[in-house]
Amino acid sequence: MDKVYSYTKSRLLYNRALKVIPTGVYGHLGPSNGCAIPVDYFPIFSHKAKGAYFWDADGNKFVDYMCAYGPNILGYGDEDVDKAAIAQLKKGNCVTIVDECLVDFAELLTDTTGKDWAFFCKNGGDVTSLAVMTARAATGRKKIVMVKNGYHGVAPWTQKLGYAGVIEEDVSNNLCVHWNDVGEFENLIAKYPGEIAAFISTPYYHPTFEDNVLPAENYWKRIRELCTRHGIVLVIDDIRCGFRLDIKGSDVHYGVKADLITFCKAIANGYNVSALCGAESLKGAVSDVFYTGSYWLSAEPFAAGIACITKMKKENTVAKLRFIADKLHSGLKDVAKANNREIIITGEPVMWYMRHSNDENFFMHQAWVAECVRRGVFFTNHHNHFINAAVSDEDIAFTLDVADKAYKAIRDRF
Ligand SMILES: Cc1ncc(COP(=O)(O)O)c(C=O)c1O
Repeated sequence: MDKVYSYTKSRLLYNRALKVIPTGVYGHLGPSNGCAIPVDYFPIFSHKAKGAYFWDADGNKFVDYMCAYGPNILGYGDEDVDKAAIAQLKKGNCVTIVDECLVDFAELLTDTTGKDWAFFCKNGGDVTSLAVMTARAATGRKKIVMVKNGYHGVAPWTQKLGYAGVIEEDVSNNLCVHWNDVGEFENLIAKYPGEIAAFISTPYYHPTFEDNVLPAENYWKRIRELCTRHGIVLVIDDIRCGFRLDIKGSDVHYGVKADLITFCKAIANGYNVSALCGAESLKGAVSDVFYTGSYWLSAEPFAAGIACITKMKKENTVAKLRFIADKLHSGLKDVAKANNREIIITGEPVMWYMRHSNDENFFMHQAWVAECVRRGVFFTNHHNHFINAAVSDEDIAFTLDVADKAYKAIRDRF
């Protein structure tokens, strides 16, 4: 039987939301973000989540391959992480002075990543901005080199001129290079001698609407050499990849040592904490930066982070994720082939991006994704996906069955 979901309650909630919330649901979880097309096939409001699944407001169950856009790594509501967080919540969370678990978390994180210090905030953008300020404080320089189409959050410096609310001064010190192009970085260094404070990039290229690309051979080695030679701070933005490629950080995964590395999403299985970790040489500079927030030193997420990292190390979650991802991808490729389609999977397997061949405008891909979603497999169209450790063989079998039904559902249209 091939039943599809309906989203009556989600829509009613959305209509209420539109009256009191700008765009109803803003940002990457909202229907206007472009990853949920056609919007009518996607749920908007969640009701509960557990393990590899979430249930929407209408009671529909989904195997979730977006993992809250990264934070869900062990499975929603992981018992060990939740137990540690709840115990800390009962003990004390947001208090006038900080709980001692701050120190435990910083020790665990520096020990795990091989960095010398950790500074905690809430969101990814908090720490990418802190990284840029730290690099500027350390070097006394203004310019920041970033990779075209890279994403580092929503602070004004990360946006583009012409975007609402962004002024020239916000972005006038940004310089862009193409991914994997070391020559362009060399040219910028020659053009702006002694002016570049930092090179900031994700460990590999994972933009939306584009095939994802891994670093070319020796890419990071060459970038590292140039940064060292020219006194430029090398910042690896590991907000999205962190703890999915290597528990020590994605700089280690690709054989390079960052001066500063940012962590967020998977650090505490969904509890809200982010971290900037760095080298001893930058400890003075980061200490000089005035930077804090009302909830940044709350203890509950620290306890969750300690439990999450401890569990990921104990269970070798990185290897487990890779195993699940490989199994899923080979199944998806087979199902596509059996339906005379070709699915193209790029990027790191645990964070794969997918599209179909012979589908230049993505219309067929969007239709297939939408048919998967309304049968209980939550993919999105133009963003990379994520694996969590709670995905079972049964979930993969269910996914492949849905993928097959989705191909059959679009057969007459494409
Ligand atoms: C690579 C990268 N950097 C920074 C950010 C910003 O993180 P946040 O949305 O938590 O501020 C993101 C978020 O997706 C990201 O993927």
